[in-house]
Formats: sequence, structure tokens, C-alpha cells
Amino acid sequence: MGRRKLVVGNWKMNGLRAQLGAAYAIDAIATQHPDAEVGLCIPATLLSEAKAGVKAIFIGAQDCHMNENGAHTGCLSAAMVKEAGASWVIVGHSERRGDQHESSADVAAKALAARAAGLKVILCLGESLETRDSGKASEFVLGQLSDSLPDGASADWLSIAYEPIWAIGTGRIPTMEQIAEIHGDIRGALRQALGAEQADAMRLLYGGSVNAANAREIFALEDVDGGLVGGASLKADSFGPIIEAAA
Ligand code: PGA
Repeated sequence: MGRRKLVVGNWKMNGLRAQLGAAYAIDAIATQHPDAEVGLCIPATLLSEAKAGVKAIFIGAQDCHMNENGAHTGCLSAAMVKEAGASWVIVGHSERRGDQHESSADVAAKALAARAAGLKVILCLGESLETRDSGKASEFVLGQLSDSLPDGASADWLSIAYEPIWAIGTGRIPTMEQIAEIHGDIRGALRQALGAEQADAMRLLYGGSVNAANAREIFALEDVDGGLVGGASLKADSFGPIIEAAA
């Protein structure tokens, strides 16, 4: 279907200026693999300097506020992170849904605000271990999708990341069958919501303990169009092979 693979690093709350060398080394690797689209979502403090120093990769933010401006101490608007150098933003990461109590309605509003500011968006979904063990993972994730999907969602600016919470930073990943099943279910729900053309063009990323050893197998699954990578994206040594696996 011609979906270009998308591999995005999420540095989370990691990275001082001294770590920008890793971003530049990752950029150099990405230059050699133009088949894949590669980006790094880094701390907002590093956006402008990183943006000025890279050629092949995009620079993204990890969150934005749903409002354009106002009395929201400590928050950043979509226009602010865009002006600082981000062309993409992650919304709805489970760490924000959990730590910052963001609801799916908040996530949809953030996605819309990002879109209005001209950002591309990665919208994250994922179930807890308790939900997985109760056999309700798919039901839960599709509920999150329907509650978080912004109006006017389309494949040219929105991608979806499935990240089971229990796989994030744990070294534990679902089986290939489990990943394939949920991604197939998400694609099916998108067909219902957006029509086949948009659904088939939209990129679905897997995230949660992606590494050099498992990336190739995960990215080969039919409805997996790349990955959202945390820990392994902090260094070129570990992220480079994941880019190669996608390319
Ligand atoms: P991880 O994080 O690759 O370190 O598991 C993924 C994520 O939270 O996006």
C-alpha cells in the first residue's frame, strides 16, 4: 500500500545539550536510509538547537497544550513548539495520560491544536497489564481510539502509535500475533471511522521495548508501519539498527 516506514525516537525527560551529539549521529545514519522517515521527539529545551543541526530527520515535541495561549503555567502551545523547531508532536503518551491525568478528550483536543498550528501528530494508545490479562486489550484500545481520534483526522498529518503500557521500558513485548491482532483491529476501526482510503494510508506504529533485536520482526508485520522508540533512541548505536530495520 506504499506506506513509508516511520521510526520516531521519544527521548522523554532525557537530554541536555551535551546529548545533542547523539541526535546528529542518528541524523547521519538516517541520511543513508531515505526509504524510512525518521524523527526524534526531544525535550522542548533542545528543539531549536537540534533543528538547526539536523538534515535528514525531523525534530518533534513530546506534548503540547490544547489551547493557543493563556494562564497555563509551565505548559507549551503547539505554536510555541513549532516555532522552536518541532514539525511533529506526540499526544496521549501513556506517561502523560497517567502522570498528568490526560483524558482521551484532552488528547483529541491536543491533536486538533497541533494540527491547527501545522504540526504532524503521533497519537498514542495502549492498555495496562491488568486490561491485557483480562482479555480486553483490543476493546480498550479501540475505545481509546474512538475517544481520542480528532475531527478531520487524516493520514497526511496523523499517525497512531500502539504502545501497551506494560511493554514500555520493561524489555517485555507482546507476541507478534498480539501486535498483529491489535494493529489489524485499529486499521479496521479506522476504516469504519475514516473510510478505507484514509485508513489504508495512515501509519500505525508499534511502541514498547523496541530494540535492535526485535525491530525487524515487528516492522515486517502487515499493519505495522514503524515504531515509537524510547530507551533505544537515546544513542545512535542502539537506534541506528532500528532505522536500518525499517529501511
Ligand atoms: P521504550 O519506550 O522503547 O523505552 O519502551 C517507548 C515509549 O514510551 O514511547
